[in-house]
Amino acid sequence: MFQAEFWRDSFGLGHNWFLERIVVEDKTHGSEHIFPVHRWVRPERHYIIYEYDCCLPQEDEFQEQRRTELKEYRRLYQYEQHVENGPVQIKQLPEDEQFTEDYKWDIVKCKGRFLLDTKLIRWTTDKWESICDLKKCYKYSLGEPACLEYWNEDRWFGLQRVQGVNPVLIRLCTEIPENFGVTEEMVEPFLEGLTLDEAIQNKKIFLIDLEILQGINCKDDRLLCAPLALFFLNKHKELMPIAIQLFQEKGPYNPVFLPSDPPTTWLTAKMYYSNADAMFHQSCTHLGFTHLLMEGVVICTHRNLSNSHPLFKLLAPHFLFLLAINTRGLEKLISPGGWVDKTMTIGRKGMFELIAKGMSRWHMNVQGIVPNEIKSRGLTEFERGLVVGLREGEFFSRDIAERRGRNVSTVNHCWQQWSREGTATRRPGSERPRGTTEREDRRVWLMAVVHRTASAAEIRAAVGTTVTQRTVTNRLLQGQLRARRPVACIPLTPNHCRLRREWCQTRAHWRTEWRYVVFSDGSRFYLGASDGRVLVRRRPGERLQPICLRPRHTGSTPGVMVWEQIPMTAGALSWLSHPP
Ligand SMILES: [Fe+2]
Repeated sequence: MFQAEFWRDSFGLGHNWFLERIVVEDKTHGSEHIFPVHRWVRPERHYIIYEYDCCLPQEDEFQEQRRTELKEYRRLYQYEQHVENGPVQIKQLPEDEQFTEDYKWDIVKCKGRFLLDTKLIRWTTDKWESICDLKKCYKYSLGEPACLEYWNEDRWFGLQRVQGVNPVLIRLCTEIPENFGVTEEMVEPFLEGLTLDEAIQNKKIFLIDLEILQGINCKDDRLLCAPLALFFLNKHKELMPIAIQLFQEKGPYNPVFLPSDPPTTWLTAKMYYSNADAMFHQSCTHLGFTHLLMEGVVICTHRNLSNSHPLFKLLAPHFLFLLAINTRGLEKLISPGGWVDKTMTIGRKGMFELIAKGMSRWHMNVQGIVPNEIKSRGLTEFERGLVVGLREGEFFSRDIAERRGRNVSTVNHCWQQWSREGTATRRPGSERPRGTTEREDRRVWLMAVVHRTASAAEIRAAVGTTVTQRTVTNRLLQGQLRARRPVACIPLTPNHCRLRREWCQTRAHWRTEWRYVVFSDGSRFYLGASDGRVLVRRRPGERLQPICLRPRHTGSTPGVMVWEQIPMTAGALSWLSHPP
């Protein structure tokens, strides 16, 4: 059994039918056939589904069914912009995307529990006025976080900038911004004997500039700052805050707060900073760049990929209830007078303004690609830091090298430098000057991508570079282009593929019949001077790309074939054969 056909009528109440899967048990052979449907079954339409329902459009025999389904999805999943200048969203939530009854029940249970907790808090305090009130909230609902005892320490404030919910703002500071009133004298006591310039040179100073918050509307004249904060990476590898300026314009009414200020003053500055950070996090990092940006991807996928497409199968679990959560969130939490208006400084209007501002600065080729995003913030030493982190986590150098695609000696060198000097930062000028320019590197790489079978010597000659053949190979390896033996294949036409699949499908039910089949395994030894073996340069995942395959001879070639034949019921039989 390899395909299932089903349909339904439209009689009776509640005839709507969401079919998750069909499982057919073969009692004779004790096997199971699974047909994952995951669709609402529309009345009077015949559905034909393959076992495991997973195929590319060009291989689908039921093209008409695929086209009709996609047409229907395009009608159901339509784009609309709900947030002015924000990302596109769903026009109307389709039935398929609604929460299931189980999920709804879970939400109701959670809501009940939280309401009860809130009531308990109200009975005791009515309004949070001290840190104890906040502790009570955690106690009744989420459980107390360990850091409640030391949340006000500078070390934890620094850690939150890289390990908290919003680690995307911190960047390497290469010079102090003009509008930041911090001076060398102010911060020198916190720099472990370095001058500010030396600390900047050693890549130990980091900056967060929340300029994006300037001019954002606030609810009921609440106060929102747009702070600048400076951090120092000390010898214990802790990120310590050393200066905070709460507003953008430098001036006498906008002081720079320092850790040497009275403790309450410094703590208040950090709390104002944290509030501004929370506004950015909830609006941009969380709602804008995660929930809403992803909504467009979900709609686009449904409109363009059939439920049977392999890529759809991989993405579908990540899309579960995303549209429903977004729709519900916008209706309940971010509605006028809702949770956002009640609790956030900027309120709903400011939140949408901030999302629109954030979206105008978001670029797919930078923020959408993690390594580029990290590089854009000047954190190029990220990988070296990662090596140190993994070694501290007691990973072996060999495992780290494999994981990062580096030599074991590079990993060891990085770790030894860290153990010796307390830093893994590459010293300026410590590298050998590069023998090739960026332009030459690009040409080498392009040449290898276009001519997959060209050797390093041929590429070197074609580019006309003066560096050695080994350097050319190294550049290609850096671009993940490795020379590999190509996979040999018989060039099959779509018709061949179809016939082969049909052949398999007609024998899919075979059980006892396989006893009468002899399996064979053969190796061919060519009698000519060369077996024509040529290496092909390919990147990870390109093994079966047509450009990286070697079409196999199907005609007669002088050679000897050694065969081994293995029947199911007897030992192996081997013999030599001469192909014609
Ligand atoms: Fe969320």
